[in-house]
Amino acid sequence: MMKKTILITGGAGFIGSHVVRLFVTKYPDYQIVNLDALTYAGNLENLKDVAKAPNYKFVKGDITDEKFITELFSTIQFDGVVHLAAESHVDRSITDPFAFIRTNVFGTCILLNAAKESWKGNMEGKRFYHVSTDEVYGALEFDGTFFTEETSYDPHSPYSASKASSDHFVRAFHDTYGLPVVISNCSNNYGANHFPEKLIPLSINNIKNSRPIPIYGKGENVRDWLFVNDHARAIDTIFHNGNNGETYNIGGNNEWSNIDLIKALCKIMDKKLGRTEGESAKLITFVKDRAGHDLRYAIDSTKLQRELGWKPSLQFEEGLEKTVDWYMQNQEWMDNIINGDYKNYYEKQYSER
Ligand code: NAD
Ligand code: DAU
Repeated sequence: MMKKTILITGGAGFIGSHVVRLFVTKYPDYQIVNLDALTYAGNLENLKDVAKAPNYKFVKGDITDEKFITELFSTIQFDGVVHLAAESHVDRSITDPFAFIRTNVFGTCILLNAAKESWKGNMEGKRFYHVSTDEVYGALEFDGTFFTEETSYDPHSPYSASKASSDHFVRAFHDTYGLPVVISNCSNNYGANHFPEKLIPLSINNIKNSRPIPIYGKGENVRDWLFVNDHARAIDTIFHNGNNGETYNIGGNNEWSNIDLIKALCKIMDKKLGRTEGESAKLITFVKDRAGHDLRYAIDSTKLQRELGWKPSLQFEEGLEKTVDWYMQNQEWMDNIINGDYKNYYEKQYSER
């Protein structure tokens, strides 16, 4: 295995932490630099098991800080970038779109430019991997169609519009400057370390505490759920074997309406909590719908499966049960988020070094 220095952005977040762990443990010859601003969504506790690995380094910094990013790229010669840092929550993008424009669009452009300048004259073997979302494709009807890599972009929320915009800039840097880029667009992830503002961890926490489970609208919206470790494996596969300038869709082929998903989750939780079947489902509460709520997402990942040999490893029921077990066994992780203590983790672990 060749020695490489890889920058992973957003590595303290949900998906980023799984990607960092996979790269640090699978590639001991790689130096992995995790750059994260530690926004409300960044949590270094997610990485406490690899924090002391000799091939891992954490750097606190903001991708929208051009001076800082330029200096970082001149201090460390990166062979590759896996870019996950983003504002990721659709509901937050509705209340504060500018935070999304800043990080997802402007921040991505700053990184692209830094990579272009740093690799100028020798792009051989370099790679800028942009992690994007299926939401850029818009919404599907209940008609059995899927998003493919050829589906036109049609974003609806400020979040998906910002991700779509960043995807366009990534392609523009490829086409204009020859930057070696690859993009993936993935469906909804679930699993350990998912911030409890998102449907599944929020519901697990509320069910455990016998609090209402808020379901937007009628709960008929459909998402295609993928176990986060399978996404991390796909990112590894695409980073190493994907072709420059290409896009790969990643999905679980696993469509669930929100209401069916939450009912399945309630059933699992009833068993785990020793409740009689049906008890947790009484917590389901229909609330005001999300503005511009996309009806259905469904990914066709044939290209990735056929060309690069990736496929999801887990059945959803198994993955969901594993996820519930993780949250039950890691109550402290959840408590630290709820009481805000996770924000002190950086100071405790890093500042006095
Ligand atoms: P997350 O919100 O859990 O984590 C985002 C991370 O980025 C956090 O650690 C945060 O501190 C960091 N960050 C935010 N702004 C930053 C900035 N300006 N500079 C540096 N770091 C910053 O997000 P996630 O769910 O893990 O998503 C990661 C990526 O994957 C995002 O790009 C998202 O669009 C994409 N994605 C997510 C999903 C999903 O289901 N969660 C699906 C497909 C694609
Ligand atoms: O499709 C990929 C996207 O999936 C990622 O790009 C985003 O970063 C990620 O946040 C996720 O977006 P969603 O909006 O689909 O995820 P969320 O967990 O917020 O919501 C899932 C579905 O559940 C959605 O239809 C809205 C609904 N929902 C959500 C919350 C938080 C509820 O009904 N109640 C809730 O309280």
